[in-house]
Amino acid sequence: MKISENIIHHQYDVVVLGAGGAGLRATLGMCHANLKTACITKVFPTRSHTVAAQGGIGAALGNMNDHDDWRYHFYDTIKGSDWLGDQDAIEYMCKNAISAVVELEHMGVPFSRTESGHIYQRPFGGHTLEFGKQMAHRACAAADRTGHAILHTLYQQCMQYNAEFFIEYIALDLVMNDDGECCGLLAWNLEDGHLHFFQAHLVVIASGGFGRIYQSCTSAHTCTGDGNAMILRAGLPLQDMEFIQFHPTGIYGSGCLITEGARGEGGYLTNSSGERFMERYAPNAKDLASRDVVSRAMTIEIMEGRGVGPQRDHILLHLEHINANTLHERLPGIMETARIFAGVDASKEPIPVLPTVHYNMGGIPTNIQAEVIKSEKKDTVKGLMAIGEAACVSVHGANRLGTNSLLDIIVFGRSAALRAKEIIKKNEPYRSFNLEKLSQRVERFESIKSQNGTHHVSHIRSKMQKIMQQYCSVFRTEETLQKGLELLLVLKDEINDLKINDKSNIWNTDLLEALELHNMYELAVVTINSALYRKESRGAHARDDHKNRDDENWLHHSLATLNFKDLTVDFKKRPVQLEPLTDAVQSIAPKERVY
Ligand code: FUM
Repeated sequence: MKISENIIHHQYDVVVLGAGGAGLRATLGMCHANLKTACITKVFPTRSHTVAAQGGIGAALGNMNDHDDWRYHFYDTIKGSDWLGDQDAIEYMCKNAISAVVELEHMGVPFSRTESGHIYQRPFGGHTLEFGKQMAHRACAAADRTGHAILHTLYQQCMQYNAEFFIEYIALDLVMNDDGECCGLLAWNLEDGHLHFFQAHLVVIASGGFGRIYQSCTSAHTCTGDGNAMILRAGLPLQDMEFIQFHPTGIYGSGCLITEGARGEGGYLTNSSGERFMERYAPNAKDLASRDVVSRAMTIEIMEGRGVGPQRDHILLHLEHINANTLHERLPGIMETARIFAGVDASKEPIPVLPTVHYNMGGIPTNIQAEVIKSEKKDTVKGLMAIGEAACVSVHGANRLGTNSLLDIIVFGRSAALRAKEIIKKNEPYRSFNLEKLSQRVERFESIKSQNGTHHVSHIRSKMQKIMQQYCSVFRTEETLQKGLELLLVLKDEINDLKINDKSNIWNTDLLEALELHNMYELAVVTINSALYRKESRGAHARDDHKNRDDENWLHHSLATLNFKDLTVDFKKRPVQLEPLTDAVQSIAPKERVY
């Protein structure tokens, strides 16, 4: 059905935006619940960024005879989050982790195996037994290609249920009605050039993170935060945007990920004098302290002149001492990555590494049923859900533990489908949409396409990425952040004066990159403002001018909305949920965080 010459109209029960692990798990659950579901994705599903997840998915299976328990996982996740994670959501995730992994196994995920045939589990940063007493083996791994294995299996399962995919469709905007409810999604089909309006009872945003606002990140080039920027344009808030995770071991130069599983298998870091410096920063967990701790330690080593190489600007990761069979069987992917991107045979020499942007803890605020929250009072937006890295449920708080992102996408992808089944009634009429509002969204697309100015997208993108890298990095201060914000705001005039050479609608990558730049820019402005707003250090947000965690004033989520006229950001605080969901566990009260 056509709304106009150029807009094709579809009607679905559910529209899922994104075909990474979260989007596919939700799509699968929706189809299973007999909901007519469209999954819209800008890349072929098995090319989504989940494919790059390496080290494992966290679940307290206890397969390595270490008597792991989901309550230890609960504790570790709260401590890892520096107490900013919501304890109800964390309980839900950790408790459901075990059945989620078993379900994946039954779907056909080719996990690595122990001698006795159980799913293989390796140690990971911040995973402990008995509330910090010793390291746990909790990361369920398919060698070092766990995300790849999960993504392909989920896609195959979706095929089995005849899920409908709209591939190489670019999501442009949400279409909201006058009551602030979501009526659907406007997208652009790269192949035939048409715009498509997907009217739906429910839109589920699963479009991933926005690591690409930085110059050096482990994220795919597609991670431009499209869904999160759509939320800002709908006038809704994003939560905890100041918390950007730096993974300790991106390859120096290229930023490619070397899994934390490498340290789980016995790898360690050294500085210029060959010292295993993590012993000074985290005497118990050492190289397997949580990511924010290791990334800060590496940065301090470099800043104090103990970095490696001619510029003393990186650190070495050693795997040479690990036996060849383990490297071959458990870490084949990163051996290849080290060879290609660092020119290093990691069985003989160390890999040069550097903390590299890896994950956005912040995102679209949701409850544990994946419904989008619109205010500090936890009231939700009708017809809208968010899951995965795009969302902030919040199970990761101020710092995510490795393996909890694969877990998050599976557990909350499933949760979204369960809730959708409850709330979508058979033959229910669609929420009526307002043609004028739809037209405004189309006009935005057309106006970006018609830009005929002087600035090239790639130049502005690169300037933005450098600003974020330099001024909103592992350590921040009021001064660096203010400087970064000032420089970012200068780019606004350039973004309004873009040169879009291609004026067609078919496979117009010039326009696609411009749309992505707009998305990233809006998110960069909100990120740096959020980092300015939070005047304490917590988890991945290390303010050199406010060195301590301040529970009295900042044990809150930040909710940020962007004013598009002048690019200022308004903030509200939302309380952290310290009470668990059930009495199966006790609340973990905030205390000093040491590893
Ligand atoms: O190091 C890694 O394999 C990354 C895992 C994660 O971010 O969860």
